This record gives sequence, C-alpha cells and structure tokens, in this order.
Amino acid sequence: MSRKKIAAANWKMNLSYAEASTLLDQLLEVCPTNAINKIICAPFPYLHVCSEKTAGRIDFTVGAQDCSAHAKGAYTGETSAAMIASCGATHVIVGHSERRTYHRESGEHLLGKIHQAFSANLNVIFCIGEVLAQRKAGEHKDVVVNQLLEVLSGLGKEHLSKLILAYEPVWAIGTGETATPEQAQEMHAIIRNQMHAMFGDEGGQVAILYGGSCNAKNAKELFACSDVDGGLIGGASLIADDFATITTSF
Ligand code: 13P
Repeated sequence: MSRKKIAAANWKMNLSYAEASTLLDQLLEVCPTNAINKIICAPFPYLHVCSEKTAGRIDFTVGAQDCSAHAKGAYTGETSAAMIASCGATHVIVGHSERRTYHRESGEHLLGKIHQAFSANLNVIFCIGEVLAQRKAGEHKDVVVNQLLEVLSGLGKEHLSKLILAYEPVWAIGTGETATPEQAQEMHAIIRNQMHAMFGDEGGQVAILYGGSCNAKNAKELFACSDVDGGLIGGASLIADDFATITTSF
C-alpha cells in the first residue's frame, strides 16, 4: 500500500471569518481535484463553515490546530476533540512547536490530547522538530527520536491509521529559511526508521509531512524526497494560488 500524499494548511491565528470564507472559496476553485489530500486547519470558530464548504470535495478535509487533553467539563476556554468533530472536522494538529513553546505542553499532556482526539474519531497530525540551538549542537536527530518515544510509546498499532507526522524544524518556521531537501530527507528517514522500530511495517507507512517555510517555489524539491509525503504549510497556505501550486508539486 502506498503512503498518503498530503498538503495540509495551517492557517494559525490569521483571517477574519469573512476572509477565511473567501480564501476557502478560492482554494476550492483553484486547487484541482486530484489524489492529494488537502487538509485545511482553520481556527476553531471557522471549522463548521469550512466543513460545510468542503463537503462536496473528497480531496478536501478540515482540521483544528489543537484540542483539549480533557473530554469535557470545567475547563474554561478549552475546546474538546468531540466539539471539533461535531463541527465536521476530521483532523487535529497536536504538539505544534508554537503550542509547545508558548503553552509549555509536556509529552504527557500531548499524549492526553492524542487520546482525546482518537476517542472522538479524529485523525492526528503530530508535530515534532528541533530548535536551532539543538541543531547547532548536533542534537537534532536525538531530539526528534525522543519526541517520538516520549509521546507515541503510549499508542498501539491500532492507532496508526489515524496518525500523520509533521517534521517541522523550529528554526525554519516562519523564518523564510527552509530545510534543504537533503536535511529534510535525512530527518524524515530517521523518523520513519524510528516509527518502524516502534511499530513494525505499519509504523513505516505513516505519512510524514515537512513544515517550515515550505512554499510554492520549494515544495517540488522537498516533496521529491523519498520519505517526504507532503507538507504542513503556514504562511503560503494563506495565498490561494500558492497553496494550489503546492498541492500540484508532488
Ligand atoms: P510556515 O510555513 O509559515 O513557516 O509555518 C510552518 C508551520 O508552522 C506549519 O505548521
């Protein structure tokens, strides 16, 4: 079975409701219907309208950018995985570096979120990646392996069909400094080997996306790498033509 090809948009905390609505209309128009899975990770208030608009396109699905580690109850301001699913979304990003940094999310906390997501039947895009100081110190390989071990050791093989990984070197996010294809391939191969070591052949089949200043110009050379199954796109996903180009860069 061949691995899924995925172009995921992470809109982060951008766009008004009207702007998000317009962008999605444009994306539906300019992205050709093809075998590439397009996942639009929108802010919570826009999940429902995005799900409605994409309902007629099998190549489009909608995701949230985070979920609570709790099922329900007195957690003011939090959004549960079940709420996300009830808005029609099918995916959720967990462990993005911006959340790990600004909200000090621990491995244990992230595993709680992943379990909640699976309980709500959501697919998880789990993010890993090293910061610049770790790369400069030559620790980047150990960092990502430990991020996988720390969190995914708590999962079983039965969860793998709903798991996507995203390698996002933190030094490349929003900086315009992209990992070279060689750097991306090296890290993706390490991640795939680690998944194989942890889960066997099914682990090696989990899609691994690259994220970090991936854009319409560099997507093709990154996606050409044998262990890169697509991208998790920030800034460039806010421009319809650029994201459309990325979805045809496989
Ligand atoms: P940029 O594409 O803006 O660098 O963001 C990447 C990212 O963080 C996607 O989750």
